[in-house]
Amino acid sequence: MATVKLAPSILTADFGRLADEVRAAEAGGADMLHLDVMDGRFVPNITFGALVVEALRKVTSLPFDIHLMTVEPERLIEQFADTADIINVHIEVSPHINRTIDAIHRLGKKAGVCINPGTPVAAIEESLPDVDQVMVMTINPGWGGQQMILRQLEKVAQIRRLLDAGGFRADIEIDGGVKAHNAAACVRAGATVLVCGSSVYNAEKSVAENLAELRRAAS
Ligand code: DX5
Ligand code: ZN
Repeated sequence: MATVKLAPSILTADFGRLADEVRAAEAGGADMLHLDVMDGRFVPNITFGALVVEALRKVTSLPFDIHLMTVEPERLIEQFADTADIINVHIEVSPHINRTIDAIHRLGKKAGVCINPGTPVAAIEESLPDVDQVMVMTINPGWGGQQMILRQLEKVAQIRRLLDAGGFRADIEIDGGVKAHNAAACVRAGATVLVCGSSVYNAEKSVAENLAELRRAAS
């Protein structure tokens, strides 16, 4: 199996010790950090914005994978110009997705498009040649710690086939409910990046132990 990248999400980390939690992910071998920006409108929850991301930029050299769960994501893109490596926007709130992808690329960042469980692959098919990453939500976004909707892995496989057939090189990132017991299935379906939130940040084991377990399971 190909080497998969692990992207811990800090959503279920201890927000009172965020810098330490991020350093633990870096020390534990994370490949990037997944940062969930929620606005209380596109999703019910509110998390953090560019200011917190800027503060975290100072404590780690991990690439930042920004997941914008906001309405009108194009209005926020520039705020992450100095911190993001990849900026991901949802197709459900991007009626002019080409313009948004172009705007992200003009900032010199990688662009990702995300699809919710209820959105068919056809909605992003036109974007596959243009994006650097496709993020498949395997939960309805809003909270960490939810159970993966396994049927979404069929969608991952469908996107993998379309990317390979077209000769497109976008990563496929799976977000939601990734655990050691389903990581191999995610990779088999065609994922190249796994977001891991509650499987990394939980009270049971250390961040490093959890990352090592996921790494073993996914390779
Ligand atoms: C949820 C977020 C996810 C979340 C994943 O809306 O987009 O990134 O942190 O958490 P787990 O891995 O616990 O499902
Ligand atoms: Zn996310």
